[in-house]
Amino acid sequence: MKVRTVGVVGAGLMGSGIAQVSAQAGYPTVLLDVASDLVEKGLKRIGGFLDGSIQKGKTTADEKVSILSRIRGATDLQELAACDLVVEAIIESLPAKRDLFGRIDRICRPEAVFASNTSSLCITEMMTATSRPARFLGLHFFNPVPLMKLVEVIRTVATDDEAERAGLEFVKTLGKVPIRTPDRTGFIVNRLLVPYMLDAVRALEGGLGTIEDIDAGMKLGCGYPMGPFTLLDFVGIDTTYYIANIMFEEFREARFASPPLLKRMVLAGMHGRKTGKGFYDYSQEPPLPQNRLTA
Ligand code: CAA
Ligand code: NAD
Repeated sequence: MKVRTVGVVGAGLMGSGIAQVSAQAGYPTVLLDVASDLVEKGLKRIGGFLDGSIQKGKTTADEKVSILSRIRGATDLQELAACDLVVEAIIESLPAKRDLFGRIDRICRPEAVFASNTSSLCITEMMTATSRPARFLGLHFFNPVPLMKLVEVIRTVATDDEAERAGLEFVKTLGKVPIRTPDRTGFIVNRLLVPYMLDAVRALEGGLGTIEDIDAGMKLGCGYPMGPFTLLDFVGIDTTYYIANIMFEEFREARFASPPLLKRMVLAGMHGRKTGKGFYDYSQEPPLPQNRLTA
């Protein structure tokens, strides 16, 4: 099977990036969210990234117009009816994802492939909300989607070879590198990355250093492109908190347990860069570390 048209559900941080790279690769792409202002926000994020690309000389104004012309914003699930591949990138909640997949299962053609961009939920559990187990897989992109080269392609025990091949081929046409992994919570990257980010919060809570010193430690001492707190703000404190809870629920290992501070930051609406405040305050440049979080 060949993917010709793509649907992306969820126009947030990840969904907008996935729609962008899909349109960049030439696919007519539907970008859907629950409300038109959220779709607009997603489209604006794509436009902003492409403006940056123009400034860097990596794309042209004409290319920007042509990429955006391939993305159709939508709020009605019926708009996904003609898609060969639907990638879900909504909130990290199993009931929400199962509900969505159950509904689009009744709208999309039986041959269409469904993929979840979940960071940590069980793909098989989403698959059982549909009548297409063979055509269901995970496509796990990384943030920021337009820049990160990797996509994890996750096969369940029921995914057929054709659907997996379609996923692998799709990823390659985006100019990205696919790696294959089975449906195990956190897949390859988050199994290793999430405990590291949670350990950084525990180190902060334990008084090991300030936010900026811990960030500088990992950046300058290990060559990581971002320190753990910059990365936490980048991924989203809410998203990281949901992921940690899901991984802890699965493995019951202390290293996956969410540190108390994360829950409090989520409750306080400090979700990181996307809300303007997390471990850093982004209302000023350079962002200001919030060391009083643990004071
Ligand atoms: N358009 C085109 N290219 C752009 C661009 C734009 N708008 N903005 C940046 N770039 C390019 C730059 O030109 C540069 O390219 P070259 O290497 O060819 O010069 C490259 O992207 C890097 O850009 P910058 O130098 O401006 O920025 P940077 O060095 O600070 O890198 C970053 C930015 C790529 C995000 C880097 O900080 C990074 O890799 N951070 C870590 C991100 C990470 O770990 N992501 C994974 C999160 S976990 C996850 O996603 C999984 C999950 O389930 C939670
Ligand atoms: P986000 O909060 O930025 O965006 C989620 C979007 O989904 C919001 O715009 C929301 O309105 C929309 N949404 C919620 N329910 C919906 C529904 N029923 N139908 C349509 N739209 C709906 O979140 P995000 O960071 O983009 O994460 C999305 C998914 O990608 C999650 O599963 C997350 O775990 C995963 N993921 C996140 C990252 C990351 O770094 N943030 C990386 C890889 C994977």
